[in-house]
Amino acid sequence: MFPRDRPRRLRYNPILRDLVAETSLSGDDLIYPIFVKDGDTEPIASMPGQYRYGIDDLGALAEGLVEKGIRSVLMFGIPRSRSPDAHDAYASDGVVQRALARMRDATDDLLLITDVCLCQYIDTGHCGIVSGGGMVDNDRSLPLLSRIALSHVRAGADVVAPSDMMDGRVKAIRDALDGEGCEHIPIISYSAKYASAFYGPFRDACNSAPRSGDRRSYQMDNRNSDEALKEVLADIEEGADIVMVKPALCYLDVIRRVRDAVKVPVMAYNVSGEYSMIKAAASQGCFDERDIVLETLFGIKRAGADLIATYFAPDIIGEL
Ligand code: PBG
Repeated sequence: MFPRDRPRRLRYNPILRDLVAETSLSGDDLIYPIFVKDGDTEPIASMPGQYRYGIDDLGALAEGLVEKGIRSVLMFGIPRSRSPDAHDAYASDGVVQRALARMRDATDDLLLITDVCLCQYIDTGHCGIVSGGGMVDNDRSLPLLSRIALSHVRAGADVVAPSDMMDGRVKAIRDALDGEGCEHIPIISYSAKYASAFYGPFRDACNSAPRSGDRRSYQMDNRNSDEALKEVLADIEEGADIVMVKPALCYLDVIRRVRDAVKVPVMAYNVSGEYSMIKAAASQGCFDERDIVLETLFGIKRAGADLIATYFAPDIIGEL
């Protein structure tokens, strides 16, 4: 005799399992982060399967991604050199600006999101301008970040995503875009971005570790989650259209709290260290990579993310 309330009854039939699944994943949920540079495409040693893409290869990359069903990329630039004023970040012939043009030439079917930050471009490697006393100067950084965002939009970005964690940058960027007739361009804010060791492989990929000190004076303390809500609500107030929690896996509780608290789409960033950790363990035969990636992405989805930026996107999309 089956008890009347037997939960397993819904699990016997694989079709029914699909029909009653509470979460789903598709290409519409995934954003693929890419690194762009001048010169040749190079593999990233700490992120097996990921590349610093040379600009000349971006047309073919864009077409290949669209063919697979990828709908959006999040672009990071690796400039030739750094400078005290981060000139290459906002120059009309900067690496991201030219990469945008290449991808836009190749396809209209890819949403082009750009990361807006200083750390790859400025001599100190910090996400804001460092003042005389060695402190990151929040308010002096805002006009520069706005200038970068505007230059990305002028070069063809569909969406800008500031990742610097300066206070007030969403409003500053919103005002700058609106002032130039770009009211229609959305802002994805890296609202709850934690100071995290999981960014290690990314910093290797972009050579973007701070030259001295760390990012704890502007990125969030991983002991906190009320603070994440405060950041998210402030960013929405300033005009953020989508808010992000980053990294994802140690912060599933934060994703859920944000999801329950706000009405805007919530994005989670499954960051470089989370990618490399799975790659390393799978290469040791610890588990099947496909199964682990699906379990991971469903976990992030179930926590409440509407969108997931993940380096696994092109590989896993065929499995969905
Ligand atoms: C730059 C930035 C970082 C990441 C995205 N934008 C690194 C950092 O803050 O040190 C990390 C992404 C990843 O690890 O995949 N501000």
